[in-house]
Amino acid sequence: MDKKTLIQKLNEDLSGELSAIIQYLTYAAKATGPYRPQLAQFFLAEVPDEQGHAQFLANKIVALGGEPTTVPRPVPAAKGNRKMLEAVLKAEKQATKDYTQRAREADEFGDKGLSVQLEDMVRDESGHAEETERILRDWPV
Ligand SMILES: [Fe+2]
Ligand SMILES: [Fe+2]
Repeated sequence: MDKKTLIQKLNEDLSGELSAIIQYLTYAAKATGPYRPQLAQFFLAEVPDEQGHAQFLANKIVALGGEPTTVPRPVPAAKGNRKMLEAVLKAEKQATKDYTQRAREADEFGDKGLSVQLEDMVRDESGHAEETERILRDWPV
């Protein structure tokens, strides 16, 4: 993998992280019903993690000589708590998959530091996915 392609892929990841921040902020505002306080809290608690990921990626892209994107991936429209949780689960699973692949590509490129950091992010995103999956498991209706 050459540097230009790696920068391009990291920018796609950054786009996903910017989207995740917006997704969690918006879904927290939209949570309704008797579980609203916990659900809004759950969504908002993810924001600092995603912000940390975005910050890392933007810094790394600049370090590699690239220009970090400011354009988020579109946030899926989701109506209702269950649909929002399902959209979050899908995004977290995608992020887990993307960073697993990106860590391999970073290794191939020869940047062990980046690869280790991306593997840390796999741990974060798979943790988010598991927590969301457990909330959905017994979600009423
Ligand atoms: Fe993230
Ligand atoms: Fe996440």
